[in-house]
Amino acid sequence: MKQDFWLERWDKKQIGFHQPEGHPLLREHWSQLSLVPNSRILVPLCGKSRDMLWLAEQGHRVTGVELSAIAAREFFEEAELTYRRQRVGAFDCFVGDQVEIRVGDFFDLPAADLARFEGFYDRAALIALPEDMRRAYVDHLMSGLRRGATGLLITFGYDPAIMDGPPFNVDDEDVGELYGRYAHVDLLAERRGLPDSDHLRERGLTDARDGIYRIVRR
Ligand SMILES: C[S@@+](CC[C@H](N)C(=O)[O-])C[C@H]1O[C@@H](n2cnc3c(N)ncnc32)[C@H](O)[C@@H]1O
Repeated sequence: MKQDFWLERWDKKQIGFHQPEGHPLLREHWSQLSLVPNSRILVPLCGKSRDMLWLAEQGHRVTGVELSAIAAREFFEEAELTYRRQRVGAFDCFVGDQVEIRVGDFFDLPAADLARFEGFYDRAALIALPEDMRRAYVDHLMSGLRRGATGLLITFGYDPAIMDGPPFNVDDEDVGELYGRYAHVDLLAERRGLPDSDHLRERGLTDARDGIYRIVRR
């Protein structure tokens, strides 16, 4: 997926993926990661996800990485949080108290920065990427993270004959193949059924499956 594709989506407010109330599966399963408060949590391809706020409310220090400055600004404005802007390397950073969003390309995040995180949360990041970019994404993330770093991954699966992504169809086999080389992977739960989403129904989807995984870097 080219950067322009996503920047245009933000520009035109075509952000059907955004969940104003956050994701219920995060709230249900986060405790299974046993991450203590104050852990540093990375949220790759974060958009303006409310889940960052929820993670901060659990006492975590949250860093999102996102291409669009519109997303970063709207996150802070909608949460009514103050922020300052600061240039760090390739990133235009929006820095709040508990949440920081680095605006730039996730692939530019240096390994030394990735090594600082104890945890990560991936909802609609892996599945936003076409197959040829997914491996590069997982390689970049996992080769930087320290041993023991633990993440929650939520995937989305459906019959790929019905529509093309994003979101792209990702199943258990894909997750095992991508992450298994680096990490212990546990399927914590699965949820069947189509989310309440007009834009997916309009594209012909009638059924889908979320997979919820714990990923522990070896
Ligand atoms: C499907 S959205 C999901 C956003 C968020 N995770 C959520 O749950 O609402 C994917 C996001 O990734 C961002 N994105 C895509 N490629 C990126 C990249 N290479 N680096 C940083 N952000 C990227 C897009 O701008 C978009 O906001």
